[in-house]
Amino acid sequence: MQETVQKILTSNRGILAADESTNTITKRFLSLGLTSTPELNKKYREVLFSTPDLEKYISGVILFDETIRQGLGQMLNQKGILIGIKVDGGLENFNNTEEQVTKGLDGLSIRLDEYKKMGATFTKWRGVIKISDIFPTDQFLDETLGGMVKYAKLVQEKEMIPIVEPEILLDGNHTTTRCGEITGKTLKRLFELLLKEGVDLTKVILKTNMVLPGKDSGVTAAPLEVAGATLRILNLSVPKEIPGIVFLSGGQTPDQATNNLNEIVKTKGDSPWDISFSYGRALQEEAMKTWGGKDENKLNAQEVFTKRLQIVSKARMGEL
Ligand code: 13P
Repeated sequence: MQETVQKILTSNRGILAADESTNTITKRFLSLGLTSTPELNKKYREVLFSTPDLEKYISGVILFDETIRQGLGQMLNQKGILIGIKVDGGLENFNNTEEQVTKGLDGLSIRLDEYKKMGATFTKWRGVIKISDIFPTDQFLDETLGGMVKYAKLVQEKEMIPIVEPEILLDGNHTTTRCGEITGKTLKRLFELLLKEGVDLTKVILKTNMVLPGKDSGVTAAPLEVAGATLRILNLSVPKEIPGIVFLSGGQTPDQATNNLNEIVKTKGDSPWDISFSYGRALQEEAMKTWGGKDENKLNAQEVFTKRLQIVSKARMGEL
């Protein structure tokens, strides 16, 4: 397991999150005028995974259930890339409010055994935390983080690495300060619960958001400001035992996600953890658009994808 952690965090590499659920990929494809089907989803993922030199920039790929069952993990294994799997079951409304709690504990143990047989060495569970004047409530946080902790415990028992992903959404008109306050509160509670449950923190990877102003706030924060706010909160809330923190892109543009990561790594000082990326949209957006569902665009899409991989990999080293 320690080896998996080290491999995921290999310097200059990071994670490609290609684990869009059926709903999410349907939405992404629709915005390009495409209809998602298992066959088209597979074709698209093959474009990404067969990109030459992918393994120079990517240490692990997170897959969705459909994709791992289509056998695409083999393509990654052949390149020495680790197979990860999203194991949460999406979101459901909590207590008839707008807050949404993550489901997926039912039958998880059996699914984990199956995924392990298919070659997965790490897993992901995403919790979604929405900011408003009244959200998140303490009751909701305990509920959604409680599920995440049970997941992490079970995954370690199966000798795989759990990625815990509390995502504080970019949606809303909140300030950077409010995002920092909620991110800090969420992370502190998460680590309290992980410790209480006896989860080995040296074998957990944290995937989380950068501290940013809300999408509808009308404010764009400069990379130096994002880096300062993000590192301040992480230093106050994340135990030093955690080996690595990987950021999600969460609706930032590819350039924002790249430049902000670069600044965070550059200014991380003596923060104890390795810092990397686990991007979905920021890595895929340009490539997906270029591909547009057409076989003849495959090489162009791979070229565009490679360019983004190269600069995100530089940013992961703070070398942009
Ligand atoms: P984004 O980088 O698009 O936020 O996706 C990362 C992810 O895996 C969200 O769960």
